[in-house]
Amino acid sequence: MLVEASAPGKMILFGEHSVVYRGPAVVLAIDRRAKVYAQKRNDNKVFVDADNLGFSGYFEDDIYHAMRGNAWRGRNLAALNVSAKKTMEYLGVEGGVNLRVRSMIPIAVGLGSSAAICVATVGAVEKLHEGGLKKEEISNLAFEGETIIHGRPSGVDNNVSTFGGVMSYEKNEGFKHHKLTEKIPFIIGNSKKKRSTKKMVENVAALKERNPEVMDNFIDAMGDIGREGLGALMEADLFKIGDLMDLNHGLLSGIGVSTMKLEILCHTARKNGALGAKLTGAGGGGCMIALSEERYMSDIERAIRRRKSDAYRVSLTDEGVTSMWIEDNEVADS
Ligand code: MEV
Repeated sequence: MLVEASAPGKMILFGEHSVVYRGPAVVLAIDRRAKVYAQKRNDNKVFVDADNLGFSGYFEDDIYHAMRGNAWRGRNLAALNVSAKKTMEYLGVEGGVNLRVRSMIPIAVGLGSSAAICVATVGAVEKLHEGGLKKEEISNLAFEGETIIHGRPSGVDNNVSTFGGVMSYEKNEGFKHHKLTEKIPFIIGNSKKKRSTKKMVENVAALKERNPEVMDNFIDAMGDIGREGLGALMEADLFKIGDLMDLNHGLLSGIGVSTMKLEILCHTARKNGALGAKLTGAGGGGCMIALSEERYMSDIERAIRRRKSDAYRVSLTDEGVTSMWIEDNEVADS
């Protein structure tokens, strides 16, 4: 027997970067998930096999031994080691674990793949020891893994991946969960350029350091968009959400986190009927999102693909982290 845990990726609808200072960010869990299969070991090693993402290796006394993949991915693996070890430490148990990762979330493009993998790892390891942890505890432990990858993340990714649904986060007010009456589908355009969230957050911090007052205005304006955007989302006012997405994108371009490809994809989506389009996540590459009426969705997807980018339709999911015991032969191939 082994444990299968899974957790969803996310998309930020409003408020990336401004959330590092104030917020709010409005974040949606999406129906693309990371799965982690876990099995106890008799030694203290943490084995990680993520063959479909192109890397695997193991940790012995926190020293990483690569079997496949490069150093960048090693850092991501370190996050899994920390998530697994911290969970065992928190539960007061010792031992090692085999972790098999199968993720349907593209990595390093702003869709929260690392957080989902950390959350699923914590979920799998705690189930393996029947820890009975609350979701908040799972999210906090996964945050420790996330920190290895992103430096000082705001915590939105691990939170929404753990709880699912729609979440807003504001520095002074913390996390709030929201219930949507309508599941609005979005199109994600993936520019396929990987980037580092840590580096993008550092670039914005440096810009703010050089231009504190102007940047304060940008951050405040993004905050207004986030607040109004959350209201529009609750009312499923697609036209207003679209306007606010365009406005948010303009500000993100202004603070230097867009790229030529992301600009092209946003313009392509709008030209093909989108009500609004913006980059999502840290920028510098990665993904954009578009909102449209159903009748234009296929045109937008096709137009994005013609720009040598991937396009996926995503919907909100209310299902956060899950875990269960399964038979060995039930492990999915992808
Ligand atoms: C990254 O998904 C979103 C950022 O706002 C960073 C963070 O919130 O930690 C850029």
